[in-house]
Amino acid sequence: MIIGSKILFFENLPSTNTQAAILLKRDDVTEGTVIHTNYQLDGRGQIGNSWESENGKNLLISIVLFPFMIIPSDQFYISMTVSLGISDFLKRYIPVCRIKWPNDIYINNDKIAGLLIENSIMGDQIENSIAGIGLNINQDKFLSDAPNPVSLKIVTGMNFNLTTCLDQLVSDLDKRYKQLIAGKYDQIKEEYISRLFRLNELHNYSDKNGIFSGKIKSVTDFGRLQIEKENGLNNNYSFKDVEFIL
Ligand code: BTN
Repeated sequence: MIIGSKILFFENLPSTNTQAAILLKRDDVTEGTVIHTNYQLDGRGQIGNSWESENGKNLLISIVLFPFMIIPSDQFYISMTVSLGISDFLKRYIPVCRIKWPNDIYINNDKIAGLLIENSIMGDQIENSIAGIGLNINQDKFLSDAPNPVSLKIVTGMNFNLTTCLDQLVSDLDKRYKQLIAGKYDQIKEEYISRLFRLNELHNYSDKNGIFSGKIKSVTDFGRLQIEKENGLNNNYSFKDVEFIL
C-alpha cells in the first residue's frame, strides 16, 4: 500500500495541508503518508475560502504524494485520481455520487466533499503534491454560509464509524493512485468524465459574457471544462472562468 502506508493522527491542527507542508519542508515524510485530524482551526478551502467541519464528526485528511511520473501539464490527473477515490468510497454507501468539476464531490445538488490539491512544481517535475480532503460524514448541521453542504449522515439517516470510513477511503484512494502510477491515464479520464455532475444535461452557467445554457461534454488533459453552448459551439473553461448556476 502506498496511500495509507503511514497515518499520522493529530487531535487538532491549524490545517492538515499546512501540516503536510511543514513535514515536507523538514524532509520528514514518506510517500502516501496520511495526515489526519479531528478538528482544524484554520481549515482551508478553494479560492481562499475556509472549510467548516465540526470537531470529531468528519474526515479531514491530507495525503503526501511524490508523483514524479506526472509531468506538470498533466497535473489535473492527480485531481481526477483523488476525486475518483473519494467517489469510489461514497459508492459503498450511496448509489449515485457525482464529481462537480473540477473536484467537488456531490450527492444530488449538494456538496459532500471538497478537495484542495497543492502541487509543488520544480522545472519539469512535480516535486510533491498535497491532496487535502474534507469529507462530511456525521455532521448534522452546517453553520457557515457555504451554499449547499451535506453529509453522509444527512443523506442516509445513519451514523458512521469514522475509523472504518478512514480505512475504506484510504484503501479506495490507494487503488486509484496505483492506477495512475500504472499509467492508465485514459481509464482515469474516461471514468472521471463519466461521473461528472451534469454531464450531457442542459443547464445554466455563467461566464464573463453572462448567463448561458449549455451541456458539459468533456474535460481536457489540462483540466479545462468543455461546455457545448446552445449554438453548438464548444468552449473550454479554466477554473474561475465559469460558474455553475445551481
Ligand atoms: C473546497 O473548498 O472545496 C476544498 C476544501 C478542502 C478541505 C480540506 S479539509 C483537509 C485539508 N486541510 C485543509 O485545510 N483543507 C483540506
